[in-house]
Amino acid sequence: MATESELLDVARAAMCRAYAPYSNFRVGCALEAEGGAVYPGCNVENASYPVTSCAERHALGAAIVAGDRRFTRLVVASDADEPVSPCGACRQALAEFAPELEILSVGRNGATARWSLAALLPERFTLRHERA
Ligand code: THU
Repeated sequence: MATESELLDVARAAMCRAYAPYSNFRVGCALEAEGGAVYPGCNVENASYPVTSCAERHALGAAIVAGDRRFTRLVVASDADEPVSPCGACRQALAEFAPELEILSVGRNGATARWSLAALLPERFTLRHERA
């Protein structure tokens, strides 16, 4: 398993590849699968602003297409002083596969925050709601 510091290195390297000319806010992340594979993601913005997609969902998509569906840790890095937490859409996307995911977020100067995804999204939508 990667150390937290190694996951942070992956997240920061991904952040450096972010395409964020509109917000100038770069985000990178490293999503660790149960088997130990680590998937980087960065935000990819678009001139049509709503088409923008977050770092977390790029990492998740890369993992799914590689065949991984179970995840243990997510490390997020950004340009902000304060650690950023994943947006609501990303919380829902991640919770589909890893509702108990452990998240570490690190700001530009090293400030950290930790959450469990279960705490960030306690009442996620699931198919059971549609079938009720
Ligand atoms: N962003 C992410 O990539 N992940 C988050 O968790 C929060 C927001 C990106 C989307 C957009 O490119 C920029 O940050 C500003 O919202």
